[in-house]
Amino acid sequence: MKIKEIKTVIKEYDNESELSAEDKKLITTAREVSKKAYAPYSGFKVGAALLLENGEIIEGNNQENSSSPVGLCAERVAIFYAGAMYPDIPAKALAITASMEHDFIDEPVTPCGSCRQTLYEHESRFNSPIRLILAGKKKIRIIEKTGDLLPLAFDKTYLEG
Ligand code: THU
Repeated sequence: MKIKEIKTVIKEYDNESELSAEDKKLITTAREVSKKAYAPYSGFKVGAALLLENGEIIEGNNQENSSSPVGLCAERVAIFYAGAMYPDIPAKALAITASMEHDFIDEPVTPCGSCRQTLYEHESRFNSPIRLILAGKKKIRIIEKTGDLLPLAFDKTYLEG
C-alpha cells in the first residue's frame, strides 16, 4: 500500500494592496457585474471576470431559475460565453466575487464542483492554466490553476482509450 498526498498551494492576502493592477481590475469588474446577477431565489449574487489571452475581459453573473437546476453559476456563464465568442483563445485569469443583501461577503467565494470541472476542461483544451482570484471583503485567495482545486480530475484522456 502507498499513501499519496496531494498538495494545493493557495496564496492568501488580507487586502488588495499587494495585488497587481490587472488583478485589481478583474476584481473590480467582477464586483460590478455581480450587481447585475439574476438571483431572486438565493439572494447570493456572484460576479465573474474572465481575462482572455487577447486582453478581452468576459463578464458573467449567476442566472437563477424557479426550477433551480436550470440556473447557471457566474463562472460558467463567463467561460461558456468566452467559448462561444472566442473559441480559439485561452483564458488566463478569473476573478470571482459574491454579495448577499447588497454587501460583499467577507470570505472569498470558491467555485462549485461543476464550475471547477468546466474550468478544468478549458485548461486541458488549451493546455494553459487559469489563475483563480477569489475575492472576499476581508481576504483574497489566489490559486495558480483551477486544476489544483480538482485533484484526480476526470479528463479527455480517459476517453481516448
Ligand atoms: N453560485 C455561483 O454563481 N458561483 C459559485 O461559485 C457558487 C454559487 C451561484 C449559484 C446560485 O445562483 C447561487 O450562487 C447560490 O448557490
